[in-house]
Amino acid sequence: MSNSDDESLRPATKLVQGGRRPEWTGDPRLGGGVVNPPVWRASTILYDNIADLKTRGHATHDKLYYGRRGTPTVWALADALTMMEPGSEGTLLYPSGVAAISAGLLALLSPGDHLLMVDSAYEPTRSFCNGMLARLGVETSYYDPCVGAAIADLIRPETKLIFLESPGSLTFEVQDIPAIVAAARGRGVTTMLDNTWATPLLFPAFRHGVDVAVMSLTKYVGGHSDAMMGSLTASKALWPRLRQATYQLGLSVSPDDCALMLRGLRTLDVRMQRHGENGLAVARWLAAREEVARVLHPALPGDPGHGIWSRDFAGTSGLFGFTLKGGDEAARTRFIDSLSLFGIGFSWGGYESLIVPSNPADIRTATTWSDPDPLIRLSIGLEDPADLIADLEQGFAAI
Ligand SMILES: Cc1ncc(COP(=O)(O)O)c(C=O)c1O
Repeated sequence: MSNSDDESLRPATKLVQGGRRPEWTGDPRLGGGVVNPPVWRASTILYDNIADLKTRGHATHDKLYYGRRGTPTVWALADALTMMEPGSEGTLLYPSGVAAISAGLLALLSPGDHLLMVDSAYEPTRSFCNGMLARLGVETSYYDPCVGAAIADLIRPETKLIFLESPGSLTFEVQDIPAIVAAARGRGVTTMLDNTWATPLLFPAFRHGVDVAVMSLTKYVGGHSDAMMGSLTASKALWPRLRQATYQLGLSVSPDDCALMLRGLRTLDVRMQRHGENGLAVARWLAAREEVARVLHPALPGDPGHGIWSRDFAGTSGLFGFTLKGGDEAARTRFIDSLSLFGIGFSWGGYESLIVPSNPADIRTATTWSDPDPLIRLSIGLEDPADLIADLEQGFAAI
């Protein structure tokens, strides 16, 4: 039985309990244990004698073997993330979210296979498909994020995987994941979801039938903008293949970074609630401003994705977009440069608010982004939203 099958605890409790196994936090010889799995730094693992080396030296996982295969700090994070996805078998960790996505696609696709990739995907995900996957003979077709059940018409005999990202992290379309999963399941096609925006707290991917859930832990799980990591949480059927590929590629993560991620994970539930509330307060204020043409936030009634979001998601995170009415590049730049509480920078999900301009029209291929108004993305942090709103207000005055 995978630890994700334990349904007796609710998600917020799992965030607190996850990975704190007595064998990783204590030592019977010392008579007690500590709260957090300590940071086990290791390259070399020592064996008692040759007999021990022969037995433990063949361990595949969850036994000390060699640093690259992880130590209890690493296993504790993987264990806690698996626990958050009821129905999953296990979690693999990667040095970044991009590494998780690339390794997952590489593990599950072979020359001659066809991949359906959502047109709103994070740009480096597309870049991996158009670059390395194309070179290896895997063909990628991009599909409209709003395709829903009509994805069935795009599945070919050689289609092996459908990749989803919902909501899209620049343009915030909400995908009909249950409909896409149903179409994929019927044809034996694997589904892989970038669940970074929602995390399993707001969207438990396995409950919705997804086969592989990806997260950039760099964002909300880490939550403090000081560490990078990615994860793949996999079904029982795909777990051995993904683990083997990860071992073959030699991908491993630092136990120090895992300790940072575990620290972030413990407070994810309260942070997510606050990110969501603050984000909605700012989004509602923006929606009422005459300088704003559109707010791209699925939790706002009237957003094209609101119906599906309300049906499938348990809440909202703090990442969304808006367009400047009749604005141009110069107005967008003046607005962003005038803000003092919003950092200008990539990434998101940290405790501090961030802002970036984005240009989806340059990225799309299956769909057209025809909105003429410049788009801005906000990651709303844990500040008092009244201060953020005051900062944005003076930004509008600066345009
Ligand atoms: C939706 C999404 N997925 C994946 C990633 C990649 O994560 P990382 O920066 O940890 O490689 C990002 C990064 O911005 C992202 O926005």
